[in-house]
Amino acid sequence: MELFIDTADLKEIEEVSKYPFVKGVTTNPSLIAKANLTQKEVITRITSLIDGPISAEVTKEDMDGMIEQALKLHEIDKKNIVIKLPMTIEGLKACKYLTDKGIKTNVTLCFSLAQALLAMEANATYVSPFMGRLDDNGFDSLELIKECVQLKKNYGYKTKIIAASIRSVKHVEDCALAGSDIATVPYKVLLKLIKHSLTDAGLETFRLDAQKTAKLEEKK
Ligand code: G3P
Repeated sequence: MELFIDTADLKEIEEVSKYPFVKGVTTNPSLIAKANLTQKEVITRITSLIDGPISAEVTKEDMDGMIEQALKLHEIDKKNIVIKLPMTIEGLKACKYLTDKGIKTNVTLCFSLAQALLAMEANATYVSPFMGRLDDNGFDSLELIKECVQLKKNYGYKTKIIAASIRSVKHVEDCALAGSDIATVPYKVLLKLIKHSLTDAGLETFRLDAQKTAKLEEKK
């Protein structure tokens, strides 16, 4: 399963751009608002840091408005920009239009299997089921990821599943086992993926023992 980072924080993106396991970036209007720059400025900077899919979300509510915004965002980096579209009729119409034009799309705010089906039928390049927000509201987000994976298998849809709204290491592990194509993970959770108390304890023991050997070598 590929890992993307879910952020518009340029410092975080610069840091993870050196990590060999971060393959793309997803943003949304709330994340962009925190960056205190225009969307164009943030997305342009991200394209200079990461050579991989970068989701940039449109904010207009009608298909024509979405397409106009999408074409401008696509101009920033024709290879890597993915247009993030809302799960609405207008969003799905724009999705089909853009995918047919060869522009990559990501249908976001997906909370049900029926919605995932519509995104796949609209030829979305990616669909983003939200795990954390489902769990926060008493739904079973892992069940949705499993169902989306099954849906792809049943009909051979090419749409890639991006597990989004990730809150924990457990979410990442669960959606990997369920067969999600990608998980888009906040910076804090990405850092937690590498941590284990036994790794830390093992490193400390090795560090102390290596010091003993180094001292012995100094004497010889
Ligand atoms: O970018 C979409 C999604 O990952 C948002 O997550 O934490 O705002 O529910 P969150």
